[in-house]
Amino acid sequence: MKKIIIAATAQNGVIGNSGKIPWHSSTEFKHFKQTTIGFPIIMGRKTFESIRKPLPGRLSIIISRNPELSYEFENVVVFTSLEKAIHYCETEKYEKVFIIGGGEIYKQSLKFVDELIISIMKLEVEGDTFFPKIDKNIWEVTDKKEFDEFTVCYYSRI
Ligand SMILES: NC(=O)c1ccc[n+]([C@@H]2O[C@H](COP(=O)([O-])OP(=O)(O)OC[C@H]3O[C@@H](n4cnc5c(N)ncnc54)[C@H](OP(=O)(O)O)[C@@H]3O)[C@@H](O)[C@H]2O)c1
Repeated sequence: MKKIIIAATAQNGVIGNSGKIPWHSSTEFKHFKQTTIGFPIIMGRKTFESIRKPLPGRLSIIISRNPELSYEFENVVVFTSLEKAIHYCETEKYEKVFIIGGGEIYKQSLKFVDELIISIMKLEVEGDTFFPKIDKNIWEVTDKKEFDEFTVCYYSRI
């Protein structure tokens, strides 16, 4: 099972501000949807609470340290660690799983994922949440897709 981080960052690495993504790009959202549709998406509790409801056509897996946490929505499951969430996806025999943020979850999963799909937005914004540093000794860009508002960089491990 391929484990893939998908994120959108500003030129300065910002991914969030005050619990939200500080830009709106319907084209980027479409790219995100087309890439992740049909596969499980893993996210931190804060990211889920910022989007407030599950994204259609994908199992939403929420990570929280709170063992009591549960949501009323269909197609949402909660695990108390990233490891348990990945293990669940492996036992369900998914071909791929996408890790969709936010900052805390990207930082912890960068160590074990196989690929990164990063949309670099053509803007700089202020923010309080950043994507972790991508070490060029570990990751190489294998493909790029150009859009008006952003460039998608596909990274694999060297
Ligand atoms: N630009 C993008 O692509 C993008 C994507 C996603 C999110 N974002 C932005 O990122 C920001 C949110 O990121 P964030 O770093 O503040 O929060 P986050 O990573 O979404 O969630 C953090 C929460 O996840 C849980 N968690 C983290 N590590 C855990 C572990 N090892 N085991 C169990 N639970 C764990 C904890 O939940 P509990 O507190 O419940 O224990 C923690 O408070 C928002 O601004 C959002 O809009 C941007």
